[in-house]
Amino acid sequence: MALQMNPMTPDVGVEISGIQLAETDGAELEALQNAVFEHGVAVLRDQVLSPEDHIALATRWGGIDINNYFPLEDEYPEIAIVRKKADQQTNIGGAWHTDHSYDQIPAMGSILVARQLPPSGGDTLFAHMGAAYDALSPELKEKVEGLRAFHTADHVYSPDGLYAQTDMGSDLRGQEMKTGAIHPVVIRHPRTGRKLLYVNPAFTIHFEGQTREESLPLLRQLYDAATLEEHQCRVVWKAGTVAIWDNRSTWHNALNDYPGYAREMHRITLSGEALGAAKH
Ligand code: SIN
Repeated sequence: MALQMNPMTPDVGVEISGIQLAETDGAELEALQNAVFEHGVAVLRDQVLSPEDHIALATRWGGIDINNYFPLEDEYPEIAIVRKKADQQTNIGGAWHTDHSYDQIPAMGSILVARQLPPSGGDTLFAHMGAAYDALSPELKEKVEGLRAFHTADHVYSPDGLYAQTDMGSDLRGQEMKTGAIHPVVIRHPRTGRKLLYVNPAFTIHFEGQTREESLPLLRQLYDAATLEEHQCRVVWKAGTVAIWDNRSTWHNALNDYPGYAREMHRITLSGEALGAAKH
């Protein structure tokens, strides 16, 4: 069967059928990559993807960035485990964010494989930062043009950070890590050239040359613009579902609405490239 693409919404997300990721390579892989670059996230159903297949696909895609914080699969350290146990309250990634923006060369994206799902709930929302940027008023576009922002994960993962105060704290690694990166607030997608808003509520702290307090009013305006429902799609997971997303062009938010049930996903983070500012 030939590869078929069905956009999930006008702004973000595409369902792709007619391929098995375990075998995807060559021109088919290139078509898949272009779809992820264009739509932000691709959803593939009925996949049979062993841990070895998962690693091989990420390697063919262009390389793996090992996550510093999540528990790793014992046998396959390339695979980070995104797990909420049945008796835990907190989930990983349960607020809007983009992965690894605290690295100076942030990860390109992720390949997330559903391994254990609750009977209902546990969907993941995605929002497109190209659509968010396009919809900013001319005044806001003017305001953010040329700004750069500081990103870090230290307040999230450090021994007194956000996760340490939850029942997820003891599952995580890397509390001693120090991170920090400066990125343009508006970047150009390295492959499509599209302008993208590149700040996020989890890891962006302040604009360069401003304090947190000075930065917050504008950051909040940008976050409101970025989370408009019209620029979002919802990935509903089923057994055999795999999602592949682009961290430069999307944010995501893993919904935590399945108390009493376990959910386990396997994530490989794909290596990225340096980000450049978008000039007029
Ligand atoms: C994440 O990578 O933030 C987790 C996404 C999810 O569990 O759906």
